[in-house]
Parts: sequence; structure tokens; C-alpha cells
Amino acid sequence: MSSNSFTWNGRQIAFRTGETIAAALSAADVQDFGPDLLGQSGRFFCGIGACQGCLVRVDGRVRESCLAPARAGLTITSAGGSHV
Ligand code: FES
Repeated sequence: MSSNSFTWNGRQIAFRTGETIAAALSAADVQDFGPDLLGQSGRFFCGIGACQGCLVRVDGRVRESCLAPARAGLTITSAGGSHV
């Protein structure tokens, strides 16, 4: 594992210092963020926290991935799933 990486649905994703989670996922060619809270495919769209299309679960908490900074060691999954 790189020192600058997080886990996305079981896959290690490297990121640059200062990148958001959404930017790092996009750079790793992850376009489909998986099911959101309504079961629709999540994706990086507005980039400013307005559309809620990029919701993911960061260490168990739902966050806008376009606003959340990437940090080493985070465990990130699609937003939908067990709690709905
Ligand atoms: S891309 Fe729209 S809220 Fe993140």
C-alpha cells in the first residue's frame, strides 16, 4: 500500500496531497461510485457539493466525495447498502 492511498471497495487508490476523494477516484478511472442512498449509480458531477451525486461512505459516514479530502488509510465504500 502506498503511503498516500485509501481503500475504495477493497481496492487501493493512490492520491496526491490535497486531492478530494472524488478527484482521486476519477484519476484512478473510477466513474461509477456505486449505489447511492436511493440505489442510483453515484458519480462525480458538480464538484461543489450541490448535486449529492458523489455520496460515498467514508469510515462508515456518508460524505460528499467531491468535498472530502483524501487521507491515507481511509476505508471508503459506495454510499448505499446496509443502512437503507
Ligand atoms: S459532485 Fe455534486 S455533490 Fe459532489
